[in-house]
Amino acid sequence: MLRRMIIKCKRSCWRWKLNNSWNRMIYKVWSLIYDRIFNSGIFLKARKRVFDGMSFKGDQKILIVGVGTGADIELLNLENIEVTAIDLSYDMLRKARSKSSNSSIEFKQMDAQNLLFKDESFDTIIASLILSVVPDPEKSLTEMERVLKKHGRIIIFDKFAPKEKQLPFTKKLIRPVVRMLGTDIGLHFEYIFQKVSDTLTIENDVPIMLNGMYRKIVIRK
Ligand SMILES: C[S@@+](CC[C@H](N)C(=O)[O-])C[C@H]1O[C@@H](n2cnc3c(N)ncnc32)[C@H](O)[C@@H]1O
Repeated sequence: MLRRMIIKCKRSCWRWKLNNSWNRMIYKVWSLIYDRIFNSGIFLKARKRVFDGMSFKGDQKILIVGVGTGADIELLNLENIEVTAIDLSYDMLRKARSKSSNSSIEFKQMDAQNLLFKDESFDTIIASLILSVVPDPEKSLTEMERVLKKHGRIIIFDKFAPKEKQLPFTKKLIRPVVRMLGTDIGLHFEYIFQKVSDTLTIENDVPIMLNGMYRKIVIRK
């Protein structure tokens, strides 16, 4: 009986996929402690390296996809820049909003897989720790490509599986559990990128943290 239950659980856990309802719920919980983990220590250092020296021109339009609690906003010089920030989770957005109450950033609750903007609306898109979180990362990257202006760039900070290699066994083992926490540690960026490779080029792809598990990737239209 117990054996059957374990096998059943193992099978369904393995097949279980991230979805928006789950993400809304899990990020409601994460919103209470998110900044203490992902906006401090090694994560804060990594974010600083990602955005170090980055500047934006006054006439640029910026989109932050999956803004979360607004950890990136604190590191960017966005004065006089038109910024729109979206996230699926009301609770994460509320945190971001409360930190930027004096700014003109427009916060919207929206699905990163279905961006409600016209084609070619933004000069720069910032996508930190979002492709590994959305249920369909290819759809989300395709949407970013659609709303990005010609010559615009997408700045990605995220964790991916090692290039041209299988996921290490230990990560394969814990992947279903980590997924239930609201993120996937087994995605190959190269696979996700295929869908948009006709119109986008990888300009920069550098390891940022944890032996290259976290990377900074800049892609240009
Ligand atoms: C790991 S957090 C990253 C937040 C922020 N970008 C950062 O770097 O700290 C992932 C964020 O994606 C949001 N999210 C999850 N599914 C989403 C979706 N389908 N569309 C938009 N945002 C989503 C979550 O609510 C959460 O705020």
